Amino acid sequence: MIEVQGMHAYYGKSHILQGVNLNIQEGEIVALLGRNGVGRSTTCKAIMGEVQPHGSVVFKGQEIAGKKAFEIANLGIGYVPENRDIFPGLTTRQNLILGLKPGQKDGAGRWSMQNMFDLFSNLNERADVEASVLSGGEQQMLTMCRTLMGDPDLVMIDEPTEGLSPQMTQKVAELLQEIAKRGISTLLVEQKLSIALDIAHRVYVMGHGQIVFEGTPAELKERDDVRKEWLEV
Ligand SMILES: Nc1ncnc2c1ncn2[C@@H]1O[C@H](COP(=O)(O)OP(=O)(O)OP(=O)(O)O)[C@@H](O)[C@H]1O
Ligand SMILES: [Mg+2]
Repeated sequence: MIEVQGMHAYYGKSHILQGVNLNIQEGEIVALLGRNGVGRSTTCKAIMGEVQPHGSVVFKGQEIAGKKAFEIANLGIGYVPENRDIFPGLTTRQNLILGLKPGQKDGAGRWSMQNMFDLFSNLNERADVEASVLSGGEQQMLTMCRTLMGDPDLVMIDEPTEGLSPQMTQKVAELLQEIAKRGISTLLVEQKLSIALDIAHRVYVMGHGQIVFEGTPAELKERDDVRKEWLEV
């Protein structure tokens, strides 16, 4: 689905990404782990074209490095950033509608608004209230669902479980599994190991702007050295 090769990115003179290589297959959940500030969010932003990537990003057979963010979104990449940016003055339903691509009708893709309401009764119950009154966990569900409404083939989800209760974390995990079941690829950025090791098919660990480990969750569990050097705080 996506193949990133030798990707570099900069903020001004700071050289943040220093040759990132990663790939994600169809329907695969791939976790991107690492400590604060190693460049996980920058990786998402560079793939999305929000930060200029240098190197190669091939999505569905097409080079997308250098394209604009809206073009990349239209090609089928969805991005759920760290800061749950709902539209607080709009209702849950209106927020979901805003996830549709220009000209896309509700239900034309793999997801419909009714789908979201069936999957998440919290959103259903709050369909017509202002999104500002939703809990943090509900807002996280809403931003994920809004992105899915645009029917992406790949979603990048940045720290979805941060600050959530165990119950809401479980809901997020269920949604991630539902996404994979529908053949959509996921890049799951996390700091915590738990959810990533439970649901990811494969794991990358990032350190200093590079991938320092790649393997299955089972392989990472065996590697105390990798966890000590790159993950534990
Ligand atoms: N807009 C920006 N301008 C300048 N430097 C930035 C900017 N955004 C991030 N950085 C720096 O780039 C580095 C990587 O940031 P990034 O957001 O990718 O980290 P991260 O792995 O997502 O970690 P976290 O989410 O915990 O901050 C950090 O050193 C950060 O301070
Ligand atoms: Mg981040």
